[in-house]
Amino acid sequence: MYVPFARKYRPRKFSEVVGQEVAVRILRNAVKFNKLSHAYLFAGPRGTGKTTLARILTKALNCLKPEEGEPCGVCENCTAIDRGSFPDLIEIDAASNRGIDDVRAIRDAVSYAPIKGKYKVYILDEAHMLTKEAFNALLKTLEEPPQKTIFLLCTTEYEKIMPTILSRCQRLVFSKLSEAQIVENLKRICDREELQCEEKALYLIAKLSDGGMRDAVSLLDQAGTYGEGKVSTTLLEEFLGIVSQERVREFLVLLLNSDVDGALGFLKDLSLRGYNLVRFCDLLEEEIRGLLLYKSLKEPERVMQVEDFHTKLGDVPLNALLYLEKVVNTVRLDARSRDFLRAFELAIIKTQIVKDIVPISELLKYGVQPSEGEKKPQGKKEEHQEDPIKLLEGRLDTLTLEVLKRSRCERKEGGFLFYIKEGDLTSEEMNKIRALERRIDFVVELKKEEGGALPPFAEKVKDMFGAKVISHEQRSKGKGPSGKGA
Ligand SMILES: Nc1ncnc2c1ncn2[C@@H]1O[C@H](COP(=O)(O)OP(=O)(O)OP(=O)(O)O)[C@@H](O)[C@H]1O
Ligand SMILES: [Mg+2]
Ligand SMILES: [Zn+2]
Repeated sequence: MYVPFARKYRPRKFSEVVGQEVAVRILRNAVKFNKLSHAYLFAGPRGTGKTTLARILTKALNCLKPEEGEPCGVCENCTAIDRGSFPDLIEIDAASNRGIDDVRAIRDAVSYAPIKGKYKVYILDEAHMLTKEAFNALLKTLEEPPQKTIFLLCTTEYEKIMPTILSRCQRLVFSKLSEAQIVENLKRICDREELQCEEKALYLIAKLSDGGMRDAVSLLDQAGTYGEGKVSTTLLEEFLGIVSQERVREFLVLLLNSDVDGALGFLKDLSLRGYNLVRFCDLLEEEIRGLLLYKSLKEPERVMQVEDFHTKLGDVPLNALLYLEKVVNTVRLDARSRDFLRAFELAIIKTQIVKDIVPISELLKYGVQPSEGEKKPQGKKEEHQEDPIKLLEGRLDTLTLEVLKRSRCERKEGGFLFYIKEGDLTSEEMNKIRALERRIDFVVELKKEEGGALPPFAEKVKDMFGAKVISHEQRSKGKGPSGKGA
């Protein structure tokens, strides 16, 4: 019979529990030094090990051959507890037995001594679901618990437990597990199950599980089945109906380029194809956060995985990213009063000024006060307005200036459009120039493949460079060169 991973990989000893170091240590030492409380309250998020630790404690207390507070795992009692057939372990789901009669029944049963083991253990799961009367009935028992009886109350909603109960229990707080802890545990399971998995996919699972190990393990189980033994990000995204990281990044580049048409079209397409837009918005925020960290930290690799994507976009002004983050962040708030799609569309429209955002340090170079905001940095530079090269002289290295000098340049809407041959400038260089002089933009001319089509990576380049891409042929068909020739 197929045993789901979440059950199959439930830790059976204290040493197998991931995280929750404080709770583990307190319980293990309580067993080792025989200093048990009558009642414990395990409080913490779903799927972080509360029920698991309650069972391990029961084993440790009733094991016939315990070692240093650890259950042996093989004796009669240990195996009976693992199988769920130990008469002195009574698990009660308070969600379905929440009334006073249920608690009275417990109270009556409590007076009998353990049948098989040394301790009788009551696990009260979802303890916050008990009614007030039931809580009161329980109080009496907690106050004068019979010898060798232990109560373990588990809850995800600590605030809902009455103070009178709280004061009679020793409280152990369970915390969410970190991404690293989850990934490590998933890797171990993959090894045991001989699943082929991409590390990135495991991180995605960890992220989606939000600190809950049960969710993470179950997701791995399902993904492994779906992928027939393979767990990759692509399969996972397909299986969950979420937008791939690559696509999220494409979208982010559209926003950074203030390509409103492109971004709105992209969003509409996702919406039509039934993708989860809320999740998409989360992933987008995550990517913006990555860029912000990359730009803000001296050693970003210590807290994040630095990828080509980050280095390529390293020149995007911090102000632009902060603004974008703020706008995307308002989508959820905004969605309270309108449809999510509409709220998202509005945000996209707001992002169109991103491209005009120039670092304040650059404005200051022109002697423009930041408060003047909208005004274009001109001042005494006016006389150079007709020659973009003059605008940049002294602010760029000579090689880059040379490239610009020999490139075709067109005037467009008060700005300048340079036609750059593929390979002549890197995206960093173009971004740098754009940041220095926002009236300048680029068209990258790709070498044409045989047959006249643009090479397959044209779209990528377009997104990465934030520039239009044309083939040589298109260029010669276009309007004749005005301004400087090549
Ligand atoms: N700390 C952990 N270390 C290793 N595995 C864990 C841990 N926490 C949870 N798991 C995995 O998740 C499954 C469920 O855990 P458990 O039943 O202990 O969660 P819980 O905290 O009681 O959750 P709930 O509040 O939903 O009852 C376990 O069988 C195990 O596979
Ligand atoms: Mg539980
Ligand atoms: Zn044992």
